[in-house]
Amino acid sequence: MAQVIPLNAPLGARIEGLDRSQTLTPAVASLLDQALADHLLVVIPGSPMTPEQTRELSLAFGEPRPQLLRRKRANDVPEVSLMVSTLMDDGTTYKTVYRAEDWHTDDSYFEVPAKATLLHSIAIPSRGGSTWFCNMHSVYDALPEATKRRIDGKRAVHGYDTPRARNRPAPRTAQEIAETPDVEHPLVRTHPITGRKGLYLNPNRLDRIVGLPREESDALLDELTEEARKPKHHHGHVWALGDVVVWDNRATMHRVVNDYPHGEPRIMHRVLLKGERPA
Ligand code: OGA
Ligand code: MN
Repeated sequence: MAQVIPLNAPLGARIEGLDRSQTLTPAVASLLDQALADHLLVVIPGSPMTPEQTRELSLAFGEPRPQLLRRKRANDVPEVSLMVSTLMDDGTTYKTVYRAEDWHTDDSYFEVPAKATLLHSIAIPSRGGSTWFCNMHSVYDALPEATKRRIDGKRAVHGYDTPRARNRPAPRTAQEIAETPDVEHPLVRTHPITGRKGLYLNPNRLDRIVGLPREESDALLDELTEEARKPKHHHGHVWALGDVVVWDNRATMHRVVNDYPHGEPRIMHRVLLKGERPA
């Protein structure tokens, strides 16, 4: 039976003794999904898989759904995207790599954001390219009581783009634009499985706090983001080829470090798992 080994870190657990080539039993699937809610990040080591195998493993965590940008979907398995983050000298590197360099949670520009994201490494550079994770329960817990009172019950507007983000997002087709109007989410969210409160921040997409003048909203968002940038809330994953890494978008942020050698392929399968409306 698979074992859940918590990392010595603010979040994360490693799954040991799981044979990924076997179809998952319901008991193992629920062990994995519970480990995700408890530890917010799970790492399942193994060898590179086909898109179909990646899709099948993702079923342990819920229902996969195709991501917004059509051109990145793997042709035969639309729920699995091929995410190429190879850094190119000629500047053709896909833009999301630069976006992913700052802290973010995936998909918050949707009314019902993905509960989790699964990445599976198909090719990794010889060094660098770690992905860092931030525990948003511990960020919330660390806020001064006065700040917690200030944000209690507040809602915030998330959009596909905001001037607050460091880099501009990838372009969308007309259909994709129509599918991504601005949305509102609570600033503090309660995890639907564990009941823990977490700060629901996304510096890449979060434009403003509803009901506050722009200046005050910017200052408060900066203050909240500053707490989340503290290393005491973070853990970095150093990729091994074939790793499956799943994170809980409801209570974490993540970022990639773009410090790997140019021209060395960095390619991942990516699956988004259907979530629930933030509350
Ligand atoms: C993502 C993402 C980071 C990475 O897939 O959402 O942010 O390390 N990826 O590739
Ligand atoms: Mn991301």
